[in-house]
Amino acid sequence: MSMRFLGTGSYVPQNVVTNDDLTKLVDTSDEWIMQRVGVSTRHISTGETAADFAIQAAKRALEDAKISAGEIDLIVAATVSADSVCPTVAGFVQRAIGASCPCFDVNSACSGFLFALDVVASFIIRGGIRNALVIGAERMSKIIDWKDRGTCVIFGDGAGAAVVAPGEGYLASRLYTAGGDEVIEIPNYGGDSPFFKGEKKQPYAFMDGQETFKFAVGKMTEDVKFVVDEAGLTMDDVDFVVPHQANIRIIDFASKRLKVPKEKFVVNIEKYGNTSAASVPMALDELNKSGRLKRGHRVVLTAFGGGLSSAACIIEW
Ligand code: UT7
Repeated sequence: MSMRFLGTGSYVPQNVVTNDDLTKLVDTSDEWIMQRVGVSTRHISTGETAADFAIQAAKRALEDAKISAGEIDLIVAATVSADSVCPTVAGFVQRAIGASCPCFDVNSACSGFLFALDVVASFIIRGGIRNALVIGAERMSKIIDWKDRGTCVIFGDGAGAAVVAPGEGYLASRLYTAGGDEVIEIPNYGGDSPFFKGEKKQPYAFMDGQETFKFAVGKMTEDVKFVVDEAGLTMDDVDFVVPHQANIRIIDFASKRLKVPKEKFVVNIEKYGNTSAASVPMALDELNKSGRLKRGHRVVLTAFGGGLSSAACIIEW
């Protein structure tokens, strides 16, 4: 169905923040963060924006795919933490790489990259796209309340990108949204209109961790089973699972419930934390660059998060 992957790239800002660094900001410990979340370090921007990360990830993906910017006919970026609403992250990438094509951003929080992939798959089916860039880029540090230990220890910054083209490597997909702000909410800046009398919330990410955890474990299992079944395959046919890197315990649960050995899961949460929409493409790039991924391998990508939303797809490399 519709598209195949030609190459991947990723980028993280240089500045590394350790768990011990965070103990100077909030009441927490390396032991708690490692045991309850599985994060040891995260990369946190000291000056670059989500668009800057996206540009670097996109350049690396083009290099890996051996495609020039002039051959790109569509750029779609997923983000919830861009520094400007307009231009879009995708638009910044277009200018930086010297492409000439339609560009836009999508937002489905941590599931955003998979939503963007599905949008691009639809464009490719419509025709007229030689190659497209799909990106997940986040400066989560911008929308975190650094006084809230329930969220600031979890997230990190970064970007991942993929170059895709018409082909037969997108076997099945599933997108899910249950709109609501009770479990996860990321308010925007409320503005200072003298006429607006409604509530103005702080523009920081709010998350009910336990409710998100339950949702994540349930949906990840359900979505992965659905796409594997939809593709006419079984779990034994899956070579790798690239999950959203939100909590190592969620990945452990998914591995057990799906009866897919942990070695097939790509896990890098310890180094980067949860980078929201960047998490899946960053992990996919790590898998690709590791040399373990061969043409013909079947890879399940799966994510969940704000929206509430979840998404999964199965691809043939
Ligand atoms: O990408 C978006 C999707 N997000 C997720 O998937 C997140 C899913 N949820 C989680 O990963 C986990 O729920 C958290 C990591 C957010 C929290 O872990 P938890 O095991 O669910 O902890 P909890 O919220 O039940 O809190 C347990 C205790 C509480 O203390 P008391 O009330 O038992 O005394 C918290 O106050 O841990 C405390 N706590 C912390 N302690 C040290 C919460 N955060 C911290 C912290 N350091 N950073």
